[in-house]
Amino acid sequence: MRRSTLALLVDPASGERVRLVQPAGTDETVAGALAGNDGRTYPIRGGIPRFVPPDDQAQTQESFGYKWQKQDAYESEGYLRLIERDEVVRWGLRAMSEFYDFFPRSGIVLEVGCGSAHFASLYVPHLARDVEWIGMDLSSAIDIARERIRPLRERSDFVQGDILQMPFAAESVDHVFARGVLHHTPSTEKAFRACVRVLRPGGELTFLIYRKLGPIREFTDDHIRAYLSKLPPAEAWKMLEPLTKLGRALNEARVTVTVPEDIPYLELPAGEYDLQRLVYDHILKAYWNPDLDFETNQHNTFDWYHPQFAFHHTEDDIRRWCRSEGLAITFIKAAWTSWAVRAVKPGR
Ligand SMILES: C[S@@+](CC[C@H](N)C(=O)[O-])C[C@H]1O[C@@H](n2cnc3c(N)ncnc32)[C@H](O)[C@@H]1O
Repeated sequence: MRRSTLALLVDPASGERVRLVQPAGTDETVAGALAGNDGRTYPIRGGIPRFVPPDDQAQTQESFGYKWQKQDAYESEGYLRLIERDEVVRWGLRAMSEFYDFFPRSGIVLEVGCGSAHFASLYVPHLARDVEWIGMDLSSAIDIARERIRPLRERSDFVQGDILQMPFAAESVDHVFARGVLHHTPSTEKAFRACVRVLRPGGELTFLIYRKLGPIREFTDDHIRAYLSKLPPAEAWKMLEPLTKLGRALNEARVTVTVPEDIPYLELPAGEYDLQRLVYDHILKAYWNPDLDFETNQHNTFDWYHPQFAFHHTEDDIRRWCRSEGLAITFIKAAWTSWAVRAVKPGR
């Protein structure tokens, strides 16, 4: 943990500043502890302050810890390029280079729920020199994030913590980035508010959250998630294999289906559909991308169905939250299963 990060941290239980105990006497603390006013302490291990995650999110922590440890299932070059292509569409960009301009030229960028910083590794090297990047995640993936990002950027730091018990002081950062995260907490709305609270006036919140889908897909998703999220991660991974194989079979069938008329109560518009896309978009996540290997396809489905919390939201939800916090939405777009949103906190 860098000395500059200490100035930003608070005890999540009290909101009061924490102090460093067992200081290593350098700019970087690798092992030690942070102490709050009431005798609570939080360890620093492997250079990362650990704000103990609450029990109600133990499943989330375990699920994502498992997923991000399976590095061979998501670290291929092909998958990174696919993520970039999707991101360009999500944000209505011409090229990924435009994405780097989302971030300020100086100050602090906090990525909450950065996971193993797989996505962060795409944009962090392009941040302006003066920007301090801090990644936070609930799970042990934060250790992988540190290994991945530190060699790319010295001005970076890492915290294991919970968005809902935010260990950062109010109005302490310039940009909060939350990609595919807020809906995995017990309350998307509370997580959203926690992010707004740590933003400085005039700061920006950029986030992707799950979108409410059609009724059949919502029903099936809830059913599968309720079943799989009770299983230990390795078992759930195994149980998902037949679903991934179904996605592959549907894709390889190369069948086109015509839906002759709109079916409004199923939110299914008339038109020509590739069979696998029809099933994927409207019935269940039978994901298959022929450019990816089996494990990478599995990884994608596991991320969707295993975490216990995965709330889906409407545009009205997002507009209501932003309105109540006085945030001005500068961008909002639905693409596939997510909403992409940028919003600015009012200045003083
Ligand atoms: C789908 S992953 C997204 C990772 C990364 N943002 C990306 O785009 O690749 C969601 C991440 O959010 C983290 N997460 C879930 N609930 C959290 C919470 N309450 N506080 C902090 N992180 C959380 C998970 O551990 C996981 O790494």
